[in-house]
Amino acid sequence: MTKNTMTLLATAALMVCAPAVLAQDKAIQQKVDALMKHMTIEEKVGQLHQLSGRQMTGPGSEKFSDKLADIRLGRVGSMLNVKGVAETREIQALALQSRLKIPLLFSLDVIHGYKTVFPVPLGEAASWDLAAIEQSAYIAAKEAAASGIHWTFAPMVDIGRDPRWGRVMEGAGEDTYLGSRIAVARIKGFQGEKLGGLDRVMATAKHFAGYGAAIAGRDYNAADMSEQQLHETYLPPFKASVDAGVATFMNSFNTLNGVPATASAYLQRDLLKGQWKYPGFVVSDWASIKELVEHGYATDLAQAAGQAINAGSDMDMEGYAYSRHLAQQIKDGKVKSSVLDDAVRRVLTKKFALGLFDDPYRYSDAAREQAALNDPEHARIARDVARKSLVLLKNEGQVLPFAKGLKSLAVIGPLAEAKRDLEGGWIVQSDESRVVSLVEGIRAQLSPQTKLTVAKGCDVACVDTSGFDAAVAAAKDADAVLLVVGESWDMSGEAKSRVDLQLPGKQAALFDALAATGKPVVVVMLAGRPLVFENVADKAAAILYAWFPGAQGGNAVADVLFGDYNPSGKLPMTFPRSVGQIPISYQQYRTGRPVLSEKNIVYRSAYIDSPNTPRYAFGHGLSYTSFAYSDLVVSKPAMKQGDKVTVSFTLTNTGNRAGEEVAQLYIRDPVASVVRPLMELKGFQKTKLAAGESRKLSFQVDRNTLAFHNTRLAWVAEPGEFELMVGTAADAIRLRGKLTLQD
Ligand code: BGC
Repeated sequence: MTKNTMTLLATAALMVCAPAVLAQDKAIQQKVDALMKHMTIEEKVGQLHQLSGRQMTGPGSEKFSDKLADIRLGRVGSMLNVKGVAETREIQALALQSRLKIPLLFSLDVIHGYKTVFPVPLGEAASWDLAAIEQSAYIAAKEAAASGIHWTFAPMVDIGRDPRWGRVMEGAGEDTYLGSRIAVARIKGFQGEKLGGLDRVMATAKHFAGYGAAIAGRDYNAADMSEQQLHETYLPPFKASVDAGVATFMNSFNTLNGVPATASAYLQRDLLKGQWKYPGFVVSDWASIKELVEHGYATDLAQAAGQAINAGSDMDMEGYAYSRHLAQQIKDGKVKSSVLDDAVRRVLTKKFALGLFDDPYRYSDAAREQAALNDPEHARIARDVARKSLVLLKNEGQVLPFAKGLKSLAVIGPLAEAKRDLEGGWIVQSDESRVVSLVEGIRAQLSPQTKLTVAKGCDVACVDTSGFDAAVAAAKDADAVLLVVGESWDMSGEAKSRVDLQLPGKQAALFDALAATGKPVVVVMLAGRPLVFENVADKAAAILYAWFPGAQGGNAVADVLFGDYNPSGKLPMTFPRSVGQIPISYQQYRTGRPVLSEKNIVYRSAYIDSPNTPRYAFGHGLSYTSFAYSDLVVSKPAMKQGDKVTVSFTLTNTGNRAGEEVAQLYIRDPVASVVRPLMELKGFQKTKLAAGESRKLSFQVDRNTLAFHNTRLAWVAEPGEFELMVGTAADAIRLRGKLTLQD
């Protein structure tokens, strides 16, 4: 920074009237303005140019040495995929050689943990435990921030109703209400109360918008939907993120109703920065500005640059559109300099808020990095979050939990001893020495007298069945049989769309071979998405869905198998019976020809070869205990628009061990100016009850609970009768009530 700039900044700093936050914001704005007065167009454009380090998370890129040269010239504002104290310090030092010495922002996909690997986000969502989810994000932030990272590209808040799309693994599932609550928990965990904490990072709400609705579940594909669907289903988690103070947004690869999201002025200018008054900045997705050309929306990279910035994309990630063409676009009058200034101001504001101008290395602290990455408490928390994420889909005859003293146990399957697969995709760096496999976790809890046999049977994607005989022999020989099957870590995630969601390879046949022994087979499934497994669902004695549970997966699964932890997870996505039912969600719309009975589907909205119902419904998940719901009371039968009504009921643990239940509130608007879904989640509570304990729980209902977007996209609650449903899953409603909204 020049001497002049420093004096200006110092003067501006003196004008700060702390401690009010507003005053601080104003002070930052003054510093930004002062700095911008000294910046050339090229230096301003530099602030909007983001480059990847040596590691690549997308296609194509410039030579690394050229990138370093650009940093020295002040032509780069941010780097992604640069991490660790040593590397971030080394690269920050180059930025400080530039004329204005503006520090770089270091960003990274810290999606489910940094060094300590937590369950994949969809798995965490299955916990329905907002405090646990927030804590997981906090630990990730703490480790990342100590390693020089300022900014994570998370949470992904895209709604996903198509499990063919591999990225459902990164989100919170199919539901808008649950997804919005989880988005807020994650943002709070990453960012804390205020930017600048040395144990926190900036969060990103991504991918804005509609990415989860890629046609046919094929990644990067177009999305096409009604305005109403967009506003009702896909946008609310983004709005909730703005309200939670998320520092940045990332736009998306897809076109939405014909316009690439990256060039959508409607999304970014009118809605986000206009109506929602969003003060943060928008980063493009990897080369998504460049891809405006491939989309057939821009003739060349220069036009793409103009389109993207005019539409509100502030930072160009690895697209080279701004770095090569933005200055010229401004000189040619295609882009107003006020548009450039607005984008630069948004970026610099965050750099000041993070304290990088005071100390560009403040996040890169070797001692803090050492301590944070080796804190044993983090593994303990990861184990706890992992066991909360496990969903017990089936438990016939209470075959689970296993007795710890059982005589012999056969653990079979391609994933029984897996380590890398437990971590899932989007991890910062795999460290198998920290991963506890299922066999290791189980062995640690079994009595020394129990005979444990391990047989792989086959590989995840195998065609070879030569290992089946040994697996069957092990099963025949054992008192209890556990089969560990599913996807390998690289089958879910970005660019991992699949058309076949059955167990890969010969795993289903391996299950059949074991089931044919007549022994009850307990199945643990690992996957980043809902799989389709009809035969296993019919014949297995028990099924525990473990997602990719992270480094502590083996311990967490063992905690549930042996009953040290009573499972409490609930599905955040519907599990279909077949791929043909996809896209699928519990939020079905009514039709004029509903199926009234599975026996009579003639001229009904049905399939002739499958029931409409899913295999496992949204919200489903069993416990080792049982819960009863009783005494629903709606505090008053009718309310006016401004009123609040309390819906209360009693939840009782009717079993003989303590357990947690996620009680869910759904509503239905039976007649409206826009046909409403059959049910919509509007509240949930996760409650722990001792055996025999009862507790009164309640939900608040107000106008917002009942409102929806009408044909003019106005947020309205229409007078009339509403149905209230309280239950343990979307297909297991236990209590029903009614409420009238008056004129
Ligand atoms: C993904 C983003 C990610 C970015 C940077 C893209 O391919 O869509 O979610 O943040 O790469 O790694």
